[in-house]
Amino acid sequence: MISAILRRRSIRKYRGDAIPKDTVEQILRAGMLAPSSKNRQPWKFVVAGGKAKEEALFAMREGLLREKREAILPGSKQHLGGAEYTLQIMQQAPVVVFVVSPLGQDLFRPLTAEERIYEICNAQSVGAAMENMTLEATELGLGSLWICDTYFAYPELCSWLHMEGELLAAMALGAADETPPPRPRKQLTEIVDWRI
Ligand SMILES: Cc1cc2nc3c(=O)[nH]c(=O)nc-3n(C[C@H](O)[C@H](O)[C@H](O)COP(=O)(O)O)c2cc1C
Repeated sequence: MISAILRRRSIRKYRGDAIPKDTVEQILRAGMLAPSSKNRQPWKFVVAGGKAKEEALFAMREGLLREKREAILPGSKQHLGGAEYTLQIMQQAPVVVFVVSPLGQDLFRPLTAEERIYEICNAQSVGAAMENMTLEATELGLGSLWICDTYFAYPELCSWLHMEGELLAAMALGAADETPPPRPRKQLTEIVDWRI
């Protein structure tokens, strides 16, 4: 198995060291080499560091506070503590990449079956790009965290991003300040139904 797959962990503690722009670019290049449905490449990346990252995280904090007062996502309350923890991690990481699908659908509008299939295919494509990025970060000796808690501050972050499309995820990048053990996985016997 590719060794980065075995070595990759979700990193939730970062040292402050800046990452050279070339290194971030290499990680993004790994992302854009991912396969995508009909080769649509439904991704755009907003790389936030320094003041831009502070502004983005201010928007996210506002969103989490708003979600506590008046939830857009029913049932979100139990996850808001986790989202606040994710926000702290994003504060520590020197770079946060926001991943936007320019072909994304309006989060708050019901989809037709065809739109849903299009959305699922695009989301899988973006997932492939994210996986390439996190593996490339590992290969380069960096830590990374794949983040979807951004959904709890969706309108606020979209307004900060100020671009066409749907915010799908974010990725924190930086020098890891922890070496977590592998997290548990289900056994193959639980998840595979061999029909050969
Ligand atoms: C789609 C997706 C969204 C995730 N969102 C978050 C997040 O918002 N905050 C967080 O701390 N971890 C997040 N994670 C990381 C998972 O918690 C982590 O991958 C899982 O617990 C397994 O641990 P490992 O990545 O170290 O193997 C996310 C992972 C994925 C794939």
